[in-house]
Amino acid sequence: MGNNSVTVRVPAKVNLQLSVGPRESDGFHNLVSVFQAISIFDDVTVSKSHAGSGVTISVTGEHTHGVPEDHSNLAVKAALLVGSKFDFAVDVHIEVKKSIPVAGGMAGGSADAAATLIAMDALFQLDMSREELHALGCELGSDVPFMISGGTAIGQGRGDQLTAALSRGTYQWVLALSSVGLSTPAVYTECDRMRSELDIAAPQVSDVLMQCLLAADAIGVGNALTNDLQNAACSLRPALSLVLEVGRDYGALGAIVSGSGPTVAFLVADEDAGLDLAVALTASGVVGSVTRAHGPVHGAKII
Ligand code: C5P
Repeated sequence: MGNNSVTVRVPAKVNLQLSVGPRESDGFHNLVSVFQAISIFDDVTVSKSHAGSGVTISVTGEHTHGVPEDHSNLAVKAALLVGSKFDFAVDVHIEVKKSIPVAGGMAGGSADAAATLIAMDALFQLDMSREELHALGCELGSDVPFMISGGTAIGQGRGDQLTAALSRGTYQWVLALSSVGLSTPAVYTECDRMRSELDIAAPQVSDVLMQCLLAADAIGVGNALTNDLQNAACSLRPALSLVLEVGRDYGALGAIVSGSGPTVAFLVADEDAGLDLAVALTASGVVGSVTRAHGPVHGAKII
């Protein structure tokens, strides 16, 4: 008899590079996305429940406002997808202990879906390969495969075709969180609107960023951070420009909107610099709350 419950710890991510090509006919954009998994974690426990109860979910923790507790939650979709692939009726309860900000551009929903896939695999002894897990992840969302792998990786296509990136050293981050999230589709639409007059080239991996990661050159990585969604996120949430400015003024090595925002990520030289910046940002009154993290860290993992 196997266990009746499995807990998986899964990280958040920041994008060191997010280059967005034109919108394709399927509505998605071709991306180059350099992901780094960072040390803010959700814990997802999947437990077997009695026959006929279906999939239920509860969400606890600091950052739960706006997380659906029904079948629109990506973690529930992940459990049901596993059931449909392996042709069994899924009766489980999913408990999410959330620390990753909701709708913050840090892949919190994708992280919970990734964790659920790993937990379902172990709970029902499905013995899926990494490739099978990734393929299911792609069906759920573009960021899900990376949340399974973790570390540092380049995502192409929709962001879901991954290659590991060679990265040395540990990077320290300060994150300025907003209490109200941004909708990812809305940010992509705003990006298209703002660039409608421009010729958009196919996105390319930044060689400079790759070299700096290989050399553990945090100053270089700070300078190389880019995000094509940043202008769109700032257009929808003008206060973000001020947050970016305050962080740069207080000596961050790099300042960037994370993914589709509204979280702003600041790369700092070391833990002391992180503490100083966190205090300065809090005192400035321009940010809701501040947290610190380091990366890269592992992907979704059973604990
Ligand atoms: O794949 P995922 O469900 O995370 O995508 C959320 C939304 O982000 C999509 O509905 C789409 O609007 C946008 N998106 C995109 N191009 C991508 C990835 C996401 O336009 N490559």
